[in-house]
Amino acid sequence: MTVATEIRQSVLERPETALLQLRDVHYTYPDGTKALCGLDLTIAPGEKIALLGPNGAGKSTMLLHLNGVLRAGSGAVYLGAEPINDANIRRVRARVGMVFQDPDDQLFSPTVFDDVAFGPVHMGLDEAEVVRRVTRALEQVGMAGFERRMPHHMSLGQRKRVAIATVLSMSPELLALDEPSAGLDPRARRGLIDLLRALPLAMIVSTHDMPMVADVFPRSVVLAEGRIVYDGDSAELLNDAALLEQYGLERP
Ligand SMILES: Nc1ncnc2c1ncn2[C@@H]1O[C@H](COP(=O)(O)OP(=O)(O)OP(=O)(O)O)[C@@H](O)[C@H]1O
Ligand SMILES: [Mg+2]
Repeated sequence: MTVATEIRQSVLERPETALLQLRDVHYTYPDGTKALCGLDLTIAPGEKIALLGPNGAGKSTMLLHLNGVLRAGSGAVYLGAEPINDANIRRVRARVGMVFQDPDDQLFSPTVFDDVAFGPVHMGLDEAEVVRRVTRALEQVGMAGFERRMPHHMSLGQRKRVAIATVLSMSPELLALDEPSAGLDPRARRGLIDLLRALPLAMIVSTHDMPMVADVFPRSVVLAEGRIVYDGDSAELLNDAALLEQYGLERP
């Protein structure tokens, strides 16, 4: 048994130790598009999961459920023992850091500092601690020194890295990242991979970047048409040409 399967096995035996759970989550967009059709998923503390599947499979829709940006039409999302609801949404947002597919959905302040400080300020932390957290988060994503820059005057890769810093500054327990490596140059992509490997946090990361999956994520979940069609070891998936073909995934 790998370490990843051991962690998962122990959480399945003791569901109360799960960090986050989706239980039979269905979601239909207001225009009638059925995007999620009964998702069950358990994330253990510290687990690193790749979320795979073709365009339109439901990856972004699922990630938006993890911190309550979207609410399940039926079924529920549990953080620890609590279902996400209006009463606990602020606490949930501090514990689950969601980074959107498009950094322009995340960055709205006049300076990088203000964007990365936004979460800590709203957590009520004092000024010195806010500065400490902003400095650390920008260092983690390789963007130290950009504090005074305007986010909308930066490159896509720089904005993507700052977007990740806006959630790292809240010291979340779970990171939900939507295609973080798309559009990054090779050095920035390598930096992101090293960062994700080094962060001692649970994370679920949607991506089409199969070499990154092999490098970072012991567990893979594959979505197709709003359903989970594979949930298991990444290594097994990546070494099975027939499965990759079946799910429309590339060999790393
Ligand atoms: N705002 C919306 N209104 C209506 N339908 C939507 C909306 N956003 C997404 N959808 C639909 O929901 C389904 C799932 O889309 P989603 O964006 O979750 O896919 P994805 O797996 O993230 O795809 P990609 O790899 O292209 O990012 C698709 O059929 C999509 O067309
Ligand atoms: Mg998407």
